Amino acid sequence: MQLFTKTNIKPLLLLLLGSVSILFGALQITLISQGPEGAVQDMASPAYFSMPLPILTHIIFGTLFNLLMPLQFMPQIRAKKPAFHRLLGRFLILFALGFGFSALWMNQFYPQYGGMMKYMGIVSHVVVMLAALTLALVAIRRRNIATHRIWMMRLTAAALSPATQRLVAVPAFLLFGESVLTDAVIAGFIWFGLVANLLFVEWILRKETRSVSLNRAF
Ligand code: HEM
Repeated sequence: MQLFTKTNIKPLLLLLLGSVSILFGALQITLISQGPEGAVQDMASPAYFSMPLPILTHIIFGTLFNLLMPLQFMPQIRAKKPAFHRLLGRFLILFALGFGFSALWMNQFYPQYGGMMKYMGIVSHVVVMLAALTLALVAIRRRNIATHRIWMMRLTAAALSPATQRLVAVPAFLLFGESVLTDAVIAGFIWFGLVANLLFVEWILRKETRSVSLNRAF
């Protein structure tokens, strides 16, 4: 099976974007494994050392999701290996629930920062993911593949929001220093990641609809 084909550009871009969170996850797991006395422990939240279970659950499930989700968008796999697509889909639901509920766990019990807007931003990510997952599953039970794909794209957009946030937050931090990270700015990054990713998916869907109607017209 050819990996680098035109139809695989979108899954490869998904993997590239997901790698941002995967790299941050690997960094945080390394810091946590070094313990609170580690050389650069101030790069990890003190809560990660006093209560590591939610963050480790979150990073492991999030990494598996980001690594494997792109395979679900490869047309060759969907067409030639439907049983693999179904099996991987079940695992991905588990991974999404794993990193989604551990995100809520941390949001609730780790020291608060970013204010109410950040708190609601995290809750909204998980609500969007759960709603998209439910609608994707209802669609596939009705054998409506097009609608299933659309809702899975929206779920993936919400799940990849932390990568988009980091693409904006890290340069801002490097350029302006820690003082830029006020509650309003942190909350702004979190909402930006979600809204930007969801709008991007809607833009792709509109483009697809337009090119299908153009093909029908000619
Ligand atoms: C709906 C999607 C997601 C939400 C709402 C979310 C939310 C959160 C929350 C609340 C924290 C704890 C922040 C704190 O209090 O210290 C966190 C940390 C983290 N998450 Fe996620 N997350 C999501 C997806 C992912 C995915 C898919 C990954 C992939 C590996 C990931 C990787 C991380 C990492 C590495 C951290 C540690 C951040 C740091 O301190 O540098 N997240 N996330």
